[in-house]
Amino acid sequence: MDIEALRAQFPALKRQIGGMPIVYLDSACMTLKPDCVIEAVTSYYRDFPACGGLGRSMHSFGREVDEAVYRAREAIRRFINARPSDSDWLDVTPTREVIFTRNATEAINVVARGFPFREGAAVLTTDREHNSNLCPWQDLEAEGRIRHLWLDRGCGDDFDLSELDRILEREPVELVSMVHVSNLDGSELPAAAVIERAHAHGARVLLDAAQSAGHLPIDVQALDVDFMALSLHKMCGPTGTGILYAKEELLEDPRFRPLLSGGDTVADTALGQPPEYLGPPFRFEAGLQDYAGIIGAGAAVEFIESIGVERIQQHVNALNAYVADKIEPLKDEFDLLGPEDAAMRNGITTLVFRRRGMVALVEEDLVGAAAILDRQANVMVRGGEFCVHSWFARSGIGREREKLRASLYVYNNRDDCDTFAEALERLVGLDEYQMLPRLP
Ligand code: ALA
Repeated sequence: MDIEALRAQFPALKRQIGGMPIVYLDSACMTLKPDCVIEAVTSYYRDFPACGGLGRSMHSFGREVDEAVYRAREAIRRFINARPSDSDWLDVTPTREVIFTRNATEAINVVARGFPFREGAAVLTTDREHNSNLCPWQDLEAEGRIRHLWLDRGCGDDFDLSELDRILEREPVELVSMVHVSNLDGSELPAAAVIERAHAHGARVLLDAAQSAGHLPIDVQALDVDFMALSLHKMCGPTGTGILYAKEELLEDPRFRPLLSGGDTVADTALGQPPEYLGPPFRFEAGLQDYAGIIGAGAAVEFIESIGVERIQQHVNALNAYVADKIEPLKDEFDLLGPEDAAMRNGITTLVFRRRGMVALVEEDLVGAAAILDRQANVMVRGGEFCVHSWFARSGIGREREKLRASLYVYNNRDDCDTFAEALERLVGLDEYQMLPRLP
């Protein structure tokens, strides 16, 4: 793979701040966007900025919107291998199993609010879900609609399948909702084994694939997964674009209610009668959609496909192993979360500093580790607790210890890793409350 040619397609990588190049290591939160995605978004606003929606706007622009949305949905269908529509529906949608949402969070909420839970049902997660796969279940529990159970996920290979079996045997679990690749430590769930066991006990499975899609190959039919939530903005797509994949039979169930209803979801309405809804996916996409975002998301998936997910995976894993070697001499300064083998962490390196309260004054501002890397070396990583506060609270690690996550994607190179390691070395050598100069 010619990384330099690939990097040239990402305009943000051409930026300099304070006269220095930038090093972007926050792709687990948001990936950068290539020219083809920017052009796809722009082309909507420039060339056909109109309404789509099943031939509602029967003019050239409306048709172009419908065609572009169709193409984006088809690109995503192909990418995850969702089932194609039957021939009756092929002229309006290439699949009934791909629903556009704003993000993975919304996709999970569609399931949380729509799933026809029976009284007394339980939802099982792991102990390290980010807030988007935790709060919806905690809310439902507070409303008395489900019980929320969790199991210790471990950090990959040590996932305890027999504990999963015990819970599934003992408890009325109707939905298992787990993160496929952890945004905390990059570890991968043994998804196929979890799905097989859940199904054997009559439970459905929702995979939060926000961190896995675009990093490893996903085939929803081979996995036999029931629901999957994806964030397209973590896959080079526009911000605020996501996907809910769901098996058609589940979306067709009239008890599975959409999160929103209104325009574009109905075949007909009349006063004094319930609406006559369209089938999926349209029943779940109420109101005018983010057409530009959807079209850009399709371009992003086509971009990833043009490189190949396996090649991206190889590149990211090799680079993460390189990062591990580079920071090895500093290892007494921090605990590293997740699998020991960096190549198993899907591009994620999460450090918890042993020294407490690592802060410095950069001119007048008191800042923590992540901000010091940014201000001193233009190295952009994520600090805080990565929306997994619940795991940190249980781990005993403590709020006052600084955390930092570097996350890689296809456009990162060895220079990025070298700059990160050098900046980290300078960081751990700092005295507390040291006055640091800001970048020029
Ligand atoms: N977007 C969140 C992260 O950065 C979940 O990990």
